[in-house]
Amino acid sequence: MSLPAGFISTRDVLDEKLSGPEVRRLEFAYGNEELLYGLDLIGVGGPFYRVTPWELEDERGVRRINVSGYSAVPFGDMPPAITGFIREFMEKNRAMSLPQQSSSPWRAALEANLVRLLARELPSHSDDQVFFCSSGTEAIEGALKFARAYRPGSKYSISFTSAYHGKTLGALSLTPNPEYQDAFKPLVPGAVTTPYGDLRALSTLIRRLGPDKVTCVVVEPIQGEGGVNIPPPGFLTGLGELCARHGIVVIADEIQTGLGRTGHWFESAAQGLDPDIVTLAKPLGAGLTAVGATIVRRSIYKKMLPGLSSKRHSNTFGGGSLAMAVGLKSLEYLMENDFPARSRALGEVGLARLQAMQARHPRLLEKVRGQGLLLAMQFQPMLGVPLPGALKELLFEATAILALRQIHEAGVMANLSLSSKRTVRLTPALDMPEDLLTQVFDRLDAFAARQPTSRHILTNTPAGLTAQLARYAATPARNRARSYE
Ligand SMILES: Cc1ncc(COP(=O)(O)O)c(C=O)c1O
Repeated sequence: MSLPAGFISTRDVLDEKLSGPEVRRLEFAYGNEELLYGLDLIGVGGPFYRVTPWELEDERGVRRINVSGYSAVPFGDMPPAITGFIREFMEKNRAMSLPQQSSSPWRAALEANLVRLLARELPSHSDDQVFFCSSGTEAIEGALKFARAYRPGSKYSISFTSAYHGKTLGALSLTPNPEYQDAFKPLVPGAVTTPYGDLRALSTLIRRLGPDKVTCVVVEPIQGEGGVNIPPPGFLTGLGELCARHGIVVIADEIQTGLGRTGHWFESAAQGLDPDIVTLAKPLGAGLTAVGATIVRRSIYKKMLPGLSSKRHSNTFGGGSLAMAVGLKSLEYLMENDFPARSRALGEVGLARLQAMQARHPRLLEKVRGQGLLLAMQFQPMLGVPLPGALKELLFEATAILALRQIHEAGVMANLSLSSKRTVRLTPALDMPEDLLTQVFDRLDAFAARQPTSRHILTNTPAGLTAQLARYAATPARNRARSYE
């Protein structure tokens, strides 16, 4: 029997029967139309199709090297090493696929391997326990609950300026970005922000709040969405010592940095921090499925999940066999190939290329930053005029958006940075062949040569498009699907 009229079959999608315009029309009609409209305006709305794991093409057959993926695509799109394993898993696996209330060999193996990996870097973690979920923000929610249960009577959770921990309410409360927070206030009470990298300010804040009243400090060892901000030497070590003195729980958010992206298994450990809780997500899913993990010291874990109360925190899908199997395989593939070392070595070359580009075009690029394969290009604002707060933010955002469009036109798919408005981020797959990575920087050089100053980003954008973007920014939501009919 076939599907009723108007329904779309898996066969239609698998056989690529939906054209690009039809895909967009459906997404506009039934999905996040406003976001896709904006992305489509600048030519990055897709849909995109895999040519190789590291190269994508659009419906017109235009190829781009993919260094986007927000650090969640460690081995490129549909990496054969993982897809081949998934095929084998589908054929052979007999373990229950959704073992919510029972033990599971896949979950057991991933729990053990994650703890052993962390303990290899930080021996005090050898008897940690793991809680699985299905996203980064959910791993943070879990971490916050573990910390609260461990420190009853405390009420403040500290995070840092430009931090990004996710968009569910708890994680959002610690993501001090007014654009994301303002519509949802009141947020979870007790969230406090202090300048990233400033140990003295943190110490003063803890003293002011009262050390016993502080539940936890949540820190990214390098800020990703904040625009690849590397803290000054000693900051994380000092943070660890300060919190340990007062029994404050330290949560290292390694969702973006962890498992090799920055050239280390755990960036916090590399910088001398021994956190109490580590959150992981993005690369564990190999860009194919969703795996989040909260790795917790035993004493803290037991406090939240003791005896009959061990069901106080749970979810339906965390720990599902397919997700765990993919997580286990990703970790294995990362370890067998020592991708953190590769990321470190290639990152040094990449950063040197960006630095040379910045030196050649200081009126285009204000700064470049990076560690491992987490790289950032911070643009000069397109207009050199002083503007009031909101307009300045808009100018910064427009600068990065239009730069991103032209980077795409130069043949490179890159990322915006959600909490650093004029920064474009490069997060190549850790296994990207070296010649392709060289081409990425060659193409970026060509992009920079086309617009030697940031003003050129604007003048090289067709005037009609600039007007459309301005209208998009200035007008309330509207039904845009019709423009595709
Ligand atoms: C450091 C960090 N924490 C948390 C998150 C949230 O993860 P997710 O988007 O999977 O919810 C992100 C996502 O970019 C992140 O970079």
